[in-house]
Amino acid sequence: MRILAIETSCDETALAVLNVSGKKYKIEAHQVASQIALHTQYGGVFPMMAKREHSRNIVPLFLETLKESGLYKNKKVTLTENQEKKIRTILVREEEMIEPFLTALSTVQKPKIDRIAVTVGPGLEPALWVGINFAKALSFVWDIPLVPVNHMEGHILSIFPPEKEAKEEEFTISDLPFPVISLLVSGGHTELILMKAIGKYTLIGQTRDDAAGEAFDKVARILGLPYPGGPHISRLAKQAREWKVESGKLKVEEQKQIVLPRPMLNSNDFDFSFSGLKTAVLYLLRDLGGIEKISEETKMEIAREFEDAAVEVLVKKTIAAAKKYKSQSIIVGGGVSANNELKARLMEKGQAEGITVSFPSKNLHTDNAIMIAIAGYFGKSAPLGSKKFIAQGNLEL
Ligand code: KG4
Ligand code: ZN
Repeated sequence: MRILAIETSCDETALAVLNVSGKKYKIEAHQVASQIALHTQYGGVFPMMAKREHSRNIVPLFLETLKESGLYKNKKVTLTENQEKKIRTILVREEEMIEPFLTALSTVQKPKIDRIAVTVGPGLEPALWVGINFAKALSFVWDIPLVPVNHMEGHILSIFPPEKEAKEEEFTISDLPFPVISLLVSGGHTELILMKAIGKYTLIGQTRDDAAGEAFDKVARILGLPYPGGPHISRLAKQAREWKVESGKLKVEEQKQIVLPRPMLNSNDFDFSFSGLKTAVLYLLRDLGGIEKISEETKMEIAREFEDAAVEVLVKKTIAAAKKYKSQSIIVGGGVSANNELKARLMEKGQAEGITVSFPSKNLHTDNAIMIAIAGYFGKSAPLGSKKFIAQGNLEL
């Protein structure tokens, strides 16, 4: 089965082609057009801006994807008047996409694709709609079944492709020792999921306010660092840990002041809260005299303390969940899974408890379409008119 997958839930337009034969999965194309450079200028993602970028990028990226997978065959195709009319109706809200779509579809022979998988939520609705409507139009013209995919299920399944350059690899989906505990940490989510099988998910805990990634982004902004903040905080924190070894760059007094809370560390549940941690950083900075007054070393030390606090809570609750549900396997997914400190500490604790901990390979932490293709393989198709193809910003697993 060959799957074409489409992902536009946030700030990456992504397409991929996955070929599944028996237990073997081969990545035939993997394309991502990131909008991060644009959103960095504004300090965050504005949904309508993201939508416009997806609409501009998706058709050229689709042609690239076909070329990369070897499925591109140039051929003059005449669309019937009815086909064209229906395409215009499907794409009515993504107007800038209509002409490029019609041009593309009248120059490409229908490739051997068995299903199209598309992210329908959760995410930014205007952004999601671009992928959904593009997928619907394509599914209609080529008469290929369409499968709705939950973005968070994609993040769970993103652990399967191996660590190397993903697209060169064939991989197999190993049998997981269910029940599995999945920690999903992204810009919009912080969830602990009990997974009894692929497709069977129960939410056992989640953030009561900000998501972990959101907290990294907000603290980064407080510290004057660019969006998205996760990688920047992480880089500063690492520097602080390294110079701490040679010791003494901060005055003891100052060092003592940089202490942040570990919210809900000892609450007897699997919920999280990151908003207070962010506020604590804000107050700490105020007490230190403001961002203009602090040294680069102090900034690093704040980043280190913040990362320590966030990671400590995530690790403790995830391990506790695995123990409670007698799970021998933990899967971590979502953008924050790129965090090296989280990975190192969770792997270490997991090992001590005899629990296998899996993280996505390096180019699959953040949003991509390979994970959507894997989820699409396990999912079920639905008719084009189905309610499943409505963008659902808050879709749950
Ligand atoms: O999954 P993702 O790409 O998009 C969403 O679905 O939200 O996650 C993006 C989030 C951002 O908040 C970003 O700051 C965070 O992941 N992130 C990190 C790191 N890399 C990305 N957070 C902490 N450490 C990192 N190294
Ligand atoms: Zn994501």
